Amino acid sequence: MFVQRIITKDYDEMSRRAADFVADKLRQNPELRLGLPTGNTPRGMYEQLVERYARGELDFSRVHTFNLDEYWGLEPDHPAAFARYIQNHFLRHVNVPSGQAHWPSGKGDAAENARTYEARIGSEGLDIIILGIGVNGHIGFNEPGAAFDARTGFVQLAERTRQDAFHPRSGFATREDVPIHGITMGIGTILEAKSILLLASGASKAKAIQRALEGPVTEEVPASALQRHGDVTVIVDEAAAARLADK
Ligand code: GLP
Repeated sequence: MFVQRIITKDYDEMSRRAADFVADKLRQNPELRLGLPTGNTPRGMYEQLVERYARGELDFSRVHTFNLDEYWGLEPDHPAAFARYIQNHFLRHVNVPSGQAHWPSGKGDAAENARTYEARIGSEGLDIIILGIGVNGHIGFNEPGAAFDARTGFVQLAERTRQDAFHPRSGFATREDVPIHGITMGIGTILEAKSILLLASGASKAKAIQRALEGPVTEEVPASALQRHGDVTVIVDEAAAARLADK
């Protein structure tokens, strides 16, 4: 595996460095096929990308975006839907043409939605997939135990993931509203991306980051699958890096 580790002072620097990474890749390849995460972690990166676009530094007109995952059972405009998150934090502020923004549908026939989404990702695959990480080591909605060769599919959320998903900015009115299932790119799908960018911030992620990067490669820690990839960049702040032996 090739892992480049960048440890930043704080969240803001993590966000700037993540935006630098995407901006560099975009300049090298204006037709970037870009996998996008949700959650609190990437908010600052999206803000940076949007600001740089507004200053005329970036052009997304030939980019295709692919959302990493979605809650099952939510309409795309539900306040907590990941499709809406990506729309609000990124797409509506930049010039990705609407036909070039893709997401897995969280309604209808799950198997059919998964097939359709894999077909959209297609044999071309993704140039970059950006990932956050769950405290239990999940990536996307691939929870502990998920197969490393899994493709996009319907999955059950871990109880811890459901708990963490409920917070003031989550878009859910009550804890019980957090769906039990999701649809996510599989670990197999993720590992086929040409490069992977993993982001984490804060002490709550320190254990997951240590297990992902330095622990055994095991399906019990989904993010440990990244050790099998040849081009991973990890940008984490000092708090998230605190447990790494090799800093
Ligand atoms: C959810 C998403 C993941 C994300 C994780 C961490 O489970 N499906 O893609 O990485 O939450 O979110 P946060 O960045 O808010 O900690």
